[in-house]
Amino acid sequence: MRSPVVVLGRYALKFARNARGRASNLYEAKLYRNANATRRALLCPVLWVSRNGYVQIMRAAKPLTEMMSFDEYTDVVDVWDYIPGEESCPFEPKASDWGWLEGRMVALDYSTPAWEVDEPAGS
Ligand SMILES: Nc1ncnc2c1ncn2[C@@H]1O[C@H](COP(=O)(O)OP(=O)(O)O)[C@@H](O)[C@H]1O
Ligand SMILES: [Mg+2]
Repeated sequence: MRSPVVVLGRYALKFARNARGRASNLYEAKLYRNANATRRALLCPVLWVSRNGYVQIMRAAKPLTEMMSFDEYTDVVDVWDYIPGEESCPFEPKASDWGWLEGRMVALDYSTPAWEVDEPAGS
């Protein structure tokens, strides 16, 4: 939906290819903005998003080369779910969705819930 992501120095630019991509850009920006410090530690920071979601700028991280272990994934889910209730965890364990930033493992794609509830695909 937003590939290829363009990495320029410290920044990663996500250009939406379609409505889902725009919803994903807006969702990540909102989630990051509203997250508390505990949750923010798990998210690659969103620095800016255009109003319509066409463009989003994130800090650039170094993507993982291997999928996280089951233990690593259950740890991040535990940290995230520290606040009970509300929507499910926004991330998956696959390597391409995570990266290293300043010694922390952070989610690069945390938009999964964005398009479970939006406009039909392709619009
Ligand atoms: N902040 C980032 N830093 C470095 N690489 C990134 C970053 N965000 C995304 N990527 C890379 O680009 C790929 C596509 O980005 P992603 O957010 O997953 O978009 P899509 O909506 O297309 O799934 C990711 O799987 C990751 O490998
Ligand atoms: Mg992705």
